[in-house]
Amino acid sequence: MKILSIESSCDETAAAVVEDGRTVLSSVIATQIDEHKLYGGVVPEIASRRHCENITGVIKEALDKAGAQLSDMDAVAVTNAPGLIGALLVGVSFAKGLAMSAGLPLVPVHHIKGHIAANYITHKELEPPYLCLVVSGGHTHIVKVESYTELETVGKTVDDAAGEAFDKAARALGFPYPGGVYIDRAAKQGDPSKYKLPIPNTQNPYDFSFSGLKTAVINLIHNARQKGEEVDVNSLAACFQQTAVTMLKNKFIAAANDLGYKKIALAGGVAANSALRSALAQAADENGMSFYVPELSLCTDNAAMIGCQGYYEYLAGNTADMSLNAFATKKLHML
Ligand code: KG4
Ligand code: ZN
Repeated sequence: MKILSIESSCDETAAAVVEDGRTVLSSVIATQIDEHKLYGGVVPEIASRRHCENITGVIKEALDKAGAQLSDMDAVAVTNAPGLIGALLVGVSFAKGLAMSAGLPLVPVHHIKGHIAANYITHKELEPPYLCLVVSGGHTHIVKVESYTELETVGKTVDDAAGEAFDKAARALGFPYPGGVYIDRAAKQGDPSKYKLPIPNTQNPYDFSFSGLKTAVINLIHNARQKGEEVDVNSLAACFQQTAVTMLKNKFIAAANDLGYKKIALAGGVAANSALRSALAQAADENGMSFYVPELSLCTDNAAMIGCQGYYEYLAGNTADMSLNAFATKKLHML
């Protein structure tokens, strides 16, 4: 079964052709990052307009690269939640038009379920159930993946998402948007014990909190500037990253142990972080767990992951009619 999938929830216009959920025949991404960089973050109206301009070309390229035409597809899958509403609406409207014109089933996909599904593309043997840590620009969740389509959140951030914290700390350190990858690189040259940063507590042991950590980085930089002292950017990046990774790892591994999971996975844009990948691989090893993480290119936003999840949603009968809408927020367990 071939699915044409579309992703437009934030600042990437993406389309892919995915066969039987796990084989990517093509995956095309038009990123808008360079334009949003000028403003230090995503400007929603600009994102919507760029999606509108790029979507036709991106979809055509995805079909061409797969050596296919719309008439060869068996369904159209599209991210319809959560994300920037004006951005999502471009993908959803386009997908509806395609599905209607070609008489194809329309499959709505939850963006976070898509991020988790990226693991199925990299690890052909992976099957639910397992426990997944989802860390993206907008989400930080510990999720029980009970089946391909039934997921339950057991912990989440009470304030900033992990990626948001990386991006805000990076901005304070003078790096461009999105700063997660710059922190990752700078940290490799720094001393992670040079500065002391707080690990915030939360009421629910599986919840996360990042705003105190982010503020501590910002305050440290301001205080140093006021005293005319130099900040060792690489070391502060290393300290921030180590603190964030330690919090994510400790809570996730504790949840996996408490809930009896021997299979754990990582997903979302921050899953590209080298320190987080190796910390979780090591912790899994120490705890006798098997660990799964998507290849780097599938961690950040792409449409291949939407085509993968779309396949399992289709098999579960979760298709939509032509009244499908987009939603800025949506709980993971809702269809
Ligand atoms: O999943 P994603 O592409 O978009 C959302 O759904 O939000 O995640 C983007 C986030 C950004 O915050 C970005 O800084 C972060 O992922 N990110 C990283 C790295 N690569 C991307 N954070 C830390 N280290 C990285 N190597
Ligand atoms: Zn994402």
